[in-house]
Amino acid sequence: MRAKTRSVLAAAGLAVAVGCSSGSHAKPSPPGVSSTAAAIANGQSIFQTGRDSDGSQIIAKPPALYPKCAACHRVDGSGGLHLPGGAVSADLRYKALVTEQKPPYTLALLERAISTGIDNTGQPLNPVMPRWRLSKRDLHDVAYYVLTKLK
Ligand code: HEC
Repeated sequence: MRAKTRSVLAAAGLAVAVGCSSGSHAKPSPPGVSSTAAAIANGQSIFQTGRDSDGSQIIAKPPALYPKCAACHRVDGSGGLHLPGGAVSADLRYKALVTEQKPPYTLALLERAISTGIDNTGQPLNPVMPRWRLSKRDLHDVAYYVLTKLK
């Protein structure tokens, strides 16, 4: 493997590894501006732990049944969990969200679904899927993580 590729991978790994758990120290980049590696690290943290890379717990209105995406969609995004009221969590992997959907989910459609509960076809999702109140950056980063990292 060439040196350049290795260092990019190392940087991405580092961004995940140094994720802040206390939330007390300053952000590395200004609000709304993040490198791709930082965006993915933040999105992964939100998806798997329910906390962004500043350590803030994500919230939904009304309050979510579980505080993190992975609790309902599984860490790999495969979903299929049976939840109260007959809801079944969606498969969020690329094939299910993009290849097999009409219209395919885009970043913008994912951001809309996550924040307003309106799906790619314009229909409301089951209310068990929380309507998340996220900052612009967190919304972007978790949608970007789902779209690009769940295979
Ligand atoms: C309390 C359980 C729960 C949590 C937590 C949760 N979801 Fe969901 N989600 C669901 C359910 C259930 C559905 C399917 C809704 C339906 O069938 O109408 C869904 C659907 C979705 C969809 C639409 C998929 C499609 O095919 O239309 C997306 C996107 C999504 N969730 C992303 C997320 C993300 C990102 C998070 C974390 C920020 C999250 N979800 C957290 C339960 C949950």
